[in-house]
Amino acid sequence: APGAQQFIPPDADTVDALRDAARGCRGCELYEPATQTVFGRGDPHAPAVFVGEQPGDVEDRQGLPFVGPAGHLLRRAVDDAGIDPKHIYLTNAVKHFRFELRGKRRIHQTPDRTHIVACRPWLVAEFARLDPRVVVVLGATAAKALLGPSFRVTRQRGELLPWPASAQNPEDFTRVPTDSTGTLTAAPQTQLLATIHPSAVLRADNRDIAYDGLVADLKVAAGVLR
Ligand code: URA
Ligand code: SF4
Repeated sequence: APGAQQFIPPDADTVDALRDAARGCRGCELYEPATQTVFGRGDPHAPAVFVGEQPGDVEDRQGLPFVGPAGHLLRRAVDDAGIDPKHIYLTNAVKHFRFELRGKRRIHQTPDRTHIVACRPWLVAEFARLDPRVVVVLGATAAKALLGPSFRVTRQRGELLPWPASAQNPEDFTRVPTDSTGTLTAAPQTQLLATIHPSAVLRADNRDIAYDGLVADLKVAAGVLR
Protein backbone atom coordinates (compact mmCIF):
# COMPACT_ATOMS: atom_id res chain seq x y z
CA ALA A 1 0.00 0.00 0.00
CA PRO A 2 1.33 3.45 -0.90
CA GLY A 3 0.33 5.11 2.37
CA ALA A 4 -1.35 8.42 3.09
CA GLN A 5 1.58 10.76 2.56
CA GLN A 6 0.91 11.48 -1.12
CA PHE A 7 -2.61 12.65 -0.22
CA ILE A 8 -1.45 15.31 2.22
CA PRO A 9 -1.18 18.69 0.49
CA PRO A 10 2.00 20.46 1.64
CA ASP A 11 0.04 23.73 1.87
CA ALA A 12 -2.66 22.30 4.15
CA ASP A 13 -1.69 24.41 7.13
CA THR A 14 -4.76 23.86 9.30
CA VAL A 15 -6.56 20.84 10.69
CA ASP A 16 -9.63 21.82 8.62
CA ALA A 17 -7.54 21.74 5.44
CA LEU A 18 -6.18 18.32 6.41
CA ARG A 19 -9.69 17.04 7.10
CA ASP A 20 -10.83 18.16 3.64
CA ALA A 21 -7.87 16.48 1.98
CA ALA A 22 -8.35 13.26 3.95
CA ARG A 23 -11.74 12.73 2.32
CA GLY A 24 -9.91 11.63 -0.82
CA CYS A 25 -7.33 9.40 0.83
CA ARG A 26 -6.69 6.03 -0.80
CA GLY A 27 -3.51 5.33 1.09
CA CYS A 28 -4.62 1.79 1.99
CA GLU A 29 -7.46 -0.51 1.03
CA LEU A 30 -9.67 0.46 3.97
CA TYR A 31 -11.26 3.41 2.12
CA GLU A 32 -13.04 1.10 -0.28
CA PRO A 33 -15.70 -0.69 1.78
CA ALA A 34 -16.01 2.17 4.29
CA THR A 35 -18.53 5.01 3.97
CA GLN A 36 -16.15 7.91 4.51
CA THR A 37 -12.97 9.13 6.14
CA VAL A 38 -13.46 10.00 9.81
CA PHE A 39 -10.97 12.70 10.75
CA GLY A 40 -10.33 14.29 14.15
CA ARG A 41 -12.73 16.83 15.64
CA GLY A 42 -12.64 19.53 18.26
CA ASP A 43 -10.73 22.73 18.90
CA PRO A 44 -7.23 22.43 17.35
CA HIS A 45 -5.95 24.52 20.29
CA ALA A 46 -7.46 22.15 22.86
CA PRO A 47 -5.03 21.39 25.72
CA ALA A 48 -5.89 17.67 25.62
CA VAL A 49 -5.73 15.46 22.53
CA PHE A 50 -7.25 11.97 22.75
CA VAL A 51 -6.19 9.33 20.24
CA GLY A 52 -8.36 6.24 19.69
CA GLU A 53 -8.07 3.27 17.36
CA GLN A 54 -10.32 3.78 14.35
CA PRO A 55 -13.90 4.86 13.72
CA GLY A 56 -16.57 2.30 14.56
CA ASP A 57 -19.80 1.49 12.74
CA VAL A 58 -21.67 4.60 13.93
CA GLU A 59 -18.69 6.88 13.34
CA ASP A 60 -18.33 5.52 9.80
CA ARG A 61 -21.95 6.42 9.02
CA GLN A 62 -21.91 9.82 10.70
CA GLY A 63 -18.40 10.88 9.70
CA LEU A 64 -17.40 11.92 13.22
CA PRO A 65 -15.13 10.19 15.75
CA PHE A 66 -16.45 8.86 19.06
CA VAL A 67 -20.18 9.31 18.45
CA GLY A 68 -21.10 5.63 19.02
CA PRO A 69 -21.26 3.53 22.22
CA ALA A 70 -17.52 3.79 23.02
CA GLY A 71 -17.72 7.53 22.46
CA HIS A 72 -20.63 7.87 24.87
CA LEU A 73 -18.76 5.96 27.52
CA LEU A 74 -15.67 8.07 26.93
CA ARG A 75 -17.70 11.26 27.22
CA ARG A 76 -19.07 10.12 30.58
CA ALA A 77 -15.59 9.15 31.83
CA VAL A 78 -14.18 12.52 30.74
CA ASP A 79 -16.95 14.21 32.65
CA ASP A 80 -16.39 12.06 35.76
CA ALA A 81 -12.67 12.87 35.58
CA GLY A 82 -13.48 16.57 35.71
CA ILE A 83 -12.28 17.41 32.21
CA ASP A 84 -14.22 20.00 30.23
CA PRO A 85 -15.20 18.36 26.90
CA LYS A 86 -14.50 21.67 25.16
CA HIS A 87 -10.84 21.19 26.13
CA ILE A 88 -10.50 18.01 24.08
CA TYR A 89 -9.57 17.28 20.50
CA LEU A 90 -10.53 13.70 19.53
CA THR A 91 -8.95 11.66 16.79
CA ASN A 92 -7.97 8.13 15.78
CA ALA A 93 -4.79 6.34 14.71
CA VAL A 94 -6.59 4.95 11.64
CA LYS A 95 -9.16 7.07 9.83
CA HIS A 96 -11.32 4.47 8.12
CA PHE A 97 -13.53 1.80 9.73
CA ARG A 98 -12.13 -1.70 9.24
CA PHE A 99 -14.82 -4.37 9.37
CA GLU A 100 -15.86 -7.79 8.20
CA LEU A 101 -19.30 -8.36 6.73
CA ARG A 102 -21.34 -11.09 8.39
CA GLY A 103 -24.64 -11.11 6.60
CA LYS A 104 -25.73 -7.53 6.92
CA ARG A 105 -23.74 -6.90 10.06
CA ARG A 106 -20.45 -5.06 9.95
CA ILE A 107 -18.14 -6.55 12.55
CA HIS A 108 -15.25 -4.43 13.82
CA GLN A 109 -11.77 -5.69 12.97
CA THR A 110 -8.66 -4.40 14.66
CA PRO A 111 -6.44 -2.56 12.19
CA ASP A 112 -3.20 -4.29 11.20
CA ARG A 113 0.25 -2.81 11.50
CA THR A 114 0.07 -2.03 7.74
CA HIS A 115 -3.01 0.16 8.27
CA ILE A 116 -1.44 1.94 11.23
CA VAL A 117 1.69 2.66 9.21
CA ALA A 118 -0.26 3.69 6.08
CA CYS A 119 -2.45 6.10 8.05
CA ARG A 120 0.22 7.47 10.37
CA PRO A 121 1.11 10.42 8.08
CA TRP A 122 -2.33 11.90 8.85
CA LEU A 123 -1.68 11.58 12.57
CA VAL A 124 1.76 13.14 12.21
CA ALA A 125 0.38 15.99 10.10
CA GLU A 126 -2.47 16.47 12.59
CA PHE A 127 -0.10 16.69 15.56
CA ALA A 128 2.02 19.24 13.71
CA ARG A 129 -1.08 21.48 13.72
CA LEU A 130 -2.26 20.79 17.29
CA ASP A 131 -0.90 22.17 20.53
CA PRO A 132 -1.77 19.81 23.42
CA ARG A 133 -0.44 19.91 26.94
CA VAL A 134 -1.44 16.28 27.40
CA VAL A 135 -1.98 13.49 24.88
CA VAL A 136 -4.26 10.65 26.02
CA VAL A 137 -3.53 7.39 24.21
CA LEU A 138 -6.57 5.10 24.22
CA GLY A 139 -5.62 1.43 23.87
CA ALA A 140 -3.03 -0.63 22.05
CA THR A 141 -3.55 0.58 18.47
CA ALA A 142 -3.05 4.24 19.37
CA ALA A 143 -0.06 3.22 21.50
CA LYS A 144 1.48 1.39 18.54
CA ALA A 145 0.99 4.45 16.32
CA LEU A 146 2.42 6.92 18.87
CA LEU A 147 4.84 4.89 20.95
CA GLY A 148 5.91 1.99 18.79
CA PRO A 149 5.23 -1.74 18.89
CA SER A 150 6.92 -2.53 22.19
CA PHE A 151 4.88 -0.20 24.41
CA ARG A 152 2.53 -2.04 26.79
CA VAL A 153 -0.56 -0.15 27.90
CA THR A 154 -1.20 -2.65 30.68
CA ARG A 155 2.21 -1.94 32.17
CA GLN A 156 2.33 1.85 31.87
CA ARG A 157 -1.26 3.00 31.92
CA GLY A 158 -2.08 5.96 34.09
CA GLU A 159 1.51 7.19 34.22
CA LEU A 160 2.42 10.62 32.93
CA LEU A 161 5.23 10.18 30.43
CA PRO A 162 7.25 12.70 28.50
CA TRP A 163 6.32 12.98 24.86
CA PRO A 164 8.57 10.63 22.83
CA ALA A 165 12.13 11.92 23.05
CA SER A 166 12.31 12.60 19.32
CA ALA A 167 9.83 15.41 19.84
CA GLN A 168 11.63 16.95 22.79
CA ASN A 169 13.77 19.09 20.51
CA PRO A 170 12.00 22.48 20.27
CA GLU A 171 13.10 22.70 16.65
CA ASP A 172 10.82 19.78 15.92
CA PHE A 173 7.85 21.84 16.97
CA THR A 174 7.72 23.78 13.74
CA ARG A 175 8.82 20.99 11.47
CA VAL A 176 6.12 19.46 9.33
CA PRO A 177 7.17 15.88 8.78
CA THR A 178 7.10 14.70 5.20
CA ASP A 179 7.10 10.93 5.27
CA SER A 180 5.59 8.04 7.15
CA THR A 181 8.66 7.70 9.34
CA GLY A 182 8.32 11.41 10.21
CA THR A 183 8.78 12.63 13.71
CA LEU A 184 5.68 13.32 15.72
CA THR A 185 5.81 16.90 16.82
CA ALA A 186 4.49 18.69 19.87
CA ALA A 187 5.61 21.40 22.24
CA PRO A 188 8.57 20.16 24.31
CA GLN A 189 6.65 20.17 27.59
CA THR A 190 3.84 17.98 26.27
CA GLN A 191 3.02 14.99 28.42
CA LEU A 192 1.48 11.71 27.45
CA LEU A 193 -0.73 9.25 29.27
CA ALA A 194 -1.87 5.84 28.04
CA THR A 195 -5.01 4.11 29.24
CA ILE A 196 -7.42 1.42 28.14
CA HIS A 197 -9.77 1.93 25.23
CA PRO A 198 -13.39 2.72 26.15
CA SER A 199 -14.47 -0.30 24.05
CA ALA A 200 -12.43 -2.48 26.41
CA VAL A 201 -14.57 -1.16 29.26
CA LEU A 202 -17.71 -2.15 27.34
CA ARG A 203 -16.31 -5.67 26.84
CA ALA A 204 -14.91 -6.13 30.37
CA ASP A 205 -16.21 -8.86 32.70
CA ASN A 206 -16.53 -6.28 35.41
CA ARG A 207 -17.47 -3.07 33.69
CA ASP A 208 -17.63 -1.01 36.87
CA ILE A 209 -14.07 -1.82 37.84
CA ALA A 210 -12.82 -1.23 34.28
CA TYR A 211 -14.72 2.06 34.11
CA ASP A 212 -13.35 3.26 37.45
CA GLY A 213 -9.84 2.44 36.21
CA LEU A 214 -10.38 4.52 33.08
CA VAL A 215 -11.67 7.46 35.13
CA ALA A 216 -8.75 7.18 37.58
CA ASP A 217 -6.31 7.40 34.65
CA LEU A 218 -8.15 10.35 33.12
CA LYS A 219 -8.00 12.16 36.47
CA VAL A 220 -4.21 12.00 36.20
CA ALA A 221 -4.46 13.62 32.77
CA ALA A 222 -6.87 16.19 34.23
CA GLY A 223 -4.16 17.18 36.69
CA VAL A 224 -2.02 18.43 33.80
CA LEU A 225 -4.83 20.73 32.69
CA ARG A 226 -5.15 22.54 36.01
N1 URA B 1 -13.48 3.79 18.88
C1 URA B 1 -12.40 4.51 18.50
O1 URA B 1 -11.27 4.15 18.75
N2 URA B 1 -12.61 5.61 17.85
C2 URA B 1 -13.80 6.06 17.55
O2 URA B 1 -13.89 7.11 16.94
C3 URA B 1 -14.91 5.31 17.97
C4 URA B 1 -14.73 4.17 18.63
FE1 SF4 C 1 -6.04 6.70 3.98
FE2 SF4 C 1 -5.92 6.06 6.55
FE3 SF4 C 1 -8.16 5.65 5.20
FE4 SF4 C 1 -6.07 4.08 4.75
S1 SF4 C 1 -7.24 4.22 6.67
S2 SF4 C 1 -7.36 5.06 3.18
S3 SF4 C 1 -4.38 5.56 4.97
S4 SF4 C 1 -7.25 7.62 5.64
